[in-house]
This record gives sequence, structure tokens and C-alpha cells, in this order.
Amino acid sequence: MAQRHFALLLLLTGYVAAWNTFVVPHADGQDDTPVLKAALASGNYSANATILFAKGTKYNIFTPIKFPTFTNVEIAIEGNLSYPDDISTVQNVVSASGFPGSWFTFTGGNNVTLRGSTDPKWGWVDGHGQAWWDAAQQTNRPHGWAFNHITNGVIRDIKLWKPIAWNFATSGSKNLHVYNNKIVAVSSTGSFPFNTDGFSAGGTNMLFENNHVQNGDDCLTVGSGAENIVFRNSYCEGGHGLSIGSLGKGGSVADVQNVLIENVIMKNTLYAARFKSWTGGNGLARNITWKNIAFDNVLFPVYVTQNYWDQEVGSPSSSSTNNTHIQDFLFENFVGTINDKPGYVEGSCVTDPCWYAVPGATGKEVIIFDLYPGTATNIVAKHILARTETFSPVRVLCNSSTCWDGLFVPTLKGLL
Ligand SMILES: *[C@@H]1O[C@H](CO)[C@@H](O)[C@H](O)[C@H]1NC(C)=O
Ligand SMILES: *[C@@H]1O[C@H](CO)[C@@H](O)[C@H](O)[C@H]1NC(C)=O
Ligand SMILES: *[C@@H]1O[C@H](CO)[C@@H](O)[C@H](O)[C@H]1NC(C)=O
Ligand SMILES: *[C@@H]1O[C@H](CO)[C@@H](O)[C@H](O)[C@H]1NC(C)=O
Ligand SMILES: *[C@@H]1O[C@H](CO)[C@@H](O)[C@H](O)[C@H]1NC(C)=O
Ligand SMILES: *[C@@H]1O[C@H](CO)[C@@H](O)[C@H](O)[C@H]1NC(C)=O
Ligand SMILES: *[C@@H]1O[C@H](CO)[C@@H](O)[C@H](O)[C@H]1NC(C)=O
Repeated sequence: MAQRHFALLLLLTGYVAAWNTFVVPHADGQDDTPVLKAALASGNYSANATILFAKGTKYNIFTPIKFPTFTNVEIAIEGNLSYPDDISTVQNVVSASGFPGSWFTFTGGNNVTLRGSTDPKWGWVDGHGQAWWDAAQQTNRPHGWAFNHITNGVIRDIKLWKPIAWNFATSGSKNLHVYNNKIVAVSSTGSFPFNTDGFSAGGTNMLFENNHVQNGDDCLTVGSGAENIVFRNSYCEGGHGLSIGSLGKGGSVADVQNVLIENVIMKNTLYAARFKSWTGGNGLARNITWKNIAFDNVLFPVYVTQNYWDQEVGSPSSSSTNNTHIQDFLFENFVGTINDKPGYVEGSCVTDPCWYAVPGATGKEVIIFDLYPGTATNIVAKHILARTETFSPVRVLCNSSTCWDGLFVPTLKGLL
């Protein structure tokens, strides 16, 4: 009897301790993806496993990695990872059939951690984006990290250096904690890092915090279907704001609810808080709060448009009667300076007028609400403190029956 219990205990202990670690090997000058692919294909690392890119090693990720469905798996990036450094190699991969869409693609699973290193010298993923930005090359660009269809996931301490374009996306995931990540999409030549979006939040129940983003597009973008998203205690520089949308493109039905964005510094950005939807869309965006936002040298601190359009395509005809409805938006505790430098042109502007130009705006507006009648309810802006860099009076632009175009007048109740 005692012996049998002992055997059972051994069995249980062995079972619990079964954790597989795969240290990704590296060969100089070679693509390190194929060996990892083969290991993943063995099935040994799909559950209860760590896949480690070891510190001290500089890996070549010359072809994309698509992970299988994972259960209790950690991907640890403690070494440096490098994309191919020439544009055409990447373009050939992206244009080939079977390209998963992103350079790193997670396909789903439960309890999945993607983590980097807290050592400032190691754990960087280098996209060699500079060459792409310098050439204004926008054909066949890969996305960075698709962390899709994961339940109970973590993304932390990841560091991205000069990514080609879009960085993290979390579509179809739930219960995520995304923190201490760093994105450095900063051009050293004056060229513009187009479409280097930071975090694209899709899915439900996500907490993003303590992230640092320097880029050339949205710092955060919350997409259709997203629900219960918190983004806080972060820094965004150079990009296009804390955005919801764009929603309702091509008449689609959008649904976003319960988003809280708070305690964020916006430096040298085009927008701070931003909502964008296309005319002709459907659906509802509700209960969205931006609060405690410090902005420094920002063109459009608070900006809501139901009239979004593509720079390349031009303004849509607004004959459609439908729009994504908006409800219960709050902008609270905004402090900062408006970039109204005469003649200033933001780096993503390649047309005249710029894609972000608002007819009737003077450049001195702290708030622009570009709304369709009867589709927006309970939008409140309060405790807004702003000055322009030229010290001219701060204005608002708001074509709704409940607020006005003209000088910004703070009221106790707020605007609208
Ligand atoms: C992973 O480990 C847990 C216990 O820690 C165990 O219940 C589960 O069966 C293991 N999964 C696989 C696929 O080995
Ligand atoms: C997978 O596990 C089996 C059984 O333990 C082992 O024989 C095989 O070498 C492993 N393969 C890899 C790639 O780890
Ligand atoms: C989740 O995965 C981590 C490794 O990332 C592991 O340490 C932990 O035990 C897993 N949790 C459960 C409940 O299995
Ligand atoms: C790792 O990559 C980053 C970004 O390219 C670089 O600054 C750093 O020096 C690299 N680390 C080492 C040890 O080479
Ligand atoms: C609004 O969203 C916040 C943040 O996600 C949430 O805590 C709150 O419960 C929501 N309120 C309503 C009325 O849905
Ligand atoms: C407007 O929305 C309604 C309800 O969703 C839909 O039935 C109708 O087809 C839409 N019209 C247009 C022009 O998109
Ligand atoms: C609101 O007013 C602005 C400025 O006059 C104009 O560009 C925009 O088209 C108007 N929006 C709507 C939805 O009518």
C-alpha cells in the first residue's frame, strides 16, 4: 500500500515538473527561423514550455515566425533579434503566398507570455526601418507582432528598434496585460516613420500600462469589437494620438465600448485624444474616457471626427445618412500647449491641403468636434487648460447645436 502511494507521488511529481525549454540556436550569417520552426513542429513546445532567445546572442530572423496554438508557453526574448536589413528581401517574403501578415504571428491559445529583457543592451528587435522610411517605401510592408486569439496573455519588456511599420496587434484576444514595452520608431535622418502604429487593441479586457512609444502613427488605436480596454501611465511621442478607430469604413458596423485612457504624456504629436469614424458607417462607440492627459506641442489636442477619409483617396461624398453613433465620451483634465507655429507641416503630410486639415479651423483649437447631427450624445470636455505656442487665444470648433465655434470658454459644466 505504502509503496503504491510512493509510486503515485513520483508520477504526479514528474507530471507537474514536465516543463520543456527550447533555447533557440543561432548560426552566424544564417536565418535562425527554420530551426525554431522545426522545433515548434515537433509539438514538444506547444504546452508547458519556454522558448528562449538567449542573452548574448544576436539572432537573424530573416523569415517570419508563426507560432502554433500555445498553452502555458512563454516566449522570452533576451537576445537581440534582427530582421533582414535590405528592403527587397522583406518585400519578397511579404508578397509570397502564405505570408501570415506579420513577422511574428501568434495564432491563439491560453496563458501565453511574450516577454523581453530588462537589460537595456539586450532583448531588442531591430526592424531596420530607417531604410524603408528614407525611401518612403510603402509596398509590401510586414506588420510586427500579431498577438491574436490569446486568452490570458502578457506582453512585457519587449523593445522594438526602428520597426518597419505597425507594431503590436491583439485582435480577438482577451485578458491581456501589456506593460513595460518600448517602441523606438524614430528616424535619424528626418524621413518620416509612416504607419508605425504602437498598440492596436482588438478584443476584450486588456490593460496596457507603462509603455513608451516614439513613432509616426497612432500610439494606441482601439478597433471595432474592442471592449473593456484600459491604457494608462504611458508616454507617446511624435505620433498620431490616443485613438479610437477608424470605425465604420465602407459602411461597416462598428462597436467599441468601455475604454479608459488616463495618465498619458503626449509630446510633439499630431493629436492627443482622437476619435475617427467614416461617414456611411454604422454601429456605436460608447463610454470612452480620456483623462489626465498632458500634451506638449500638439496640433489637435482633442479631436473627434465622424468624417474621416483617406489622404490618397480624398474626401468622401457625405450623402450617406448613416454614421457610427457616439455616446458618453469624456475628456477631462487636459493640460498643455498647442502647436500653432505658422507654416508647420507634420511629417505624414504629403498632400496640399494636408490630410489632417480641417476646413474652417485656425490651428488654435484645443477641441475640434466634427459631428453629424443626431448621432452624438453626451460628449463632455472639462478641466481643459491650454495655451497656444504663439500666445494667441485658444479656440474651439464644434458644429453641433450644443456647442460653438469660436473662443474657448471654460465652463463649470464643461463643453457640450
Ligand atoms: C501542462 O501542465 C499542467 C500542470 O502543470 C498539466 O495539467 C497539463 O496536462 C500539461 N499539459 C500538457 C499538454 O502537457
Ligand atoms: C521532442 O521530444 C521527443 C521525445 O522526448 C524527442 O525524441 C525529440 O527529440 C524532441 N524534439 C525536439 C525538436 O525537441
Ligand atoms: C502560465 O504560464 C507560465 C509561464 O509563462 C507558468 O509559469 C504558469 O504556471 C502557467 N499558469 C498555469 C495556471 O498553468
Ligand atoms: C541590441 O540591439 C540594440 C538595438 O539595435 C543595440 O542598440 C544594442 O547595442 C544591441 N546590443 C548588443 C549587445 O549589441
Ligand atoms: C465604462 O468604462 C469603464 C472603463 O472600462 C468601466 O469601468 C465602466 O464600468 C463603464 N461604465 C459603463 C456604464 O458601462
Ligand atoms: C443604414 O443603417 C441601417 C441600419 O443598420 C441599414 O439597414 C442601412 O442599409 C444603412 N444604409 C446605408 C446607406 O448604409
Ligand atoms: C463640421 O464643420 C466642419 C467645419 O465647417 C466641416 O468641415 C465638416 O464637414 C462639418 N462636419 C459635418 C459632419 O457636417
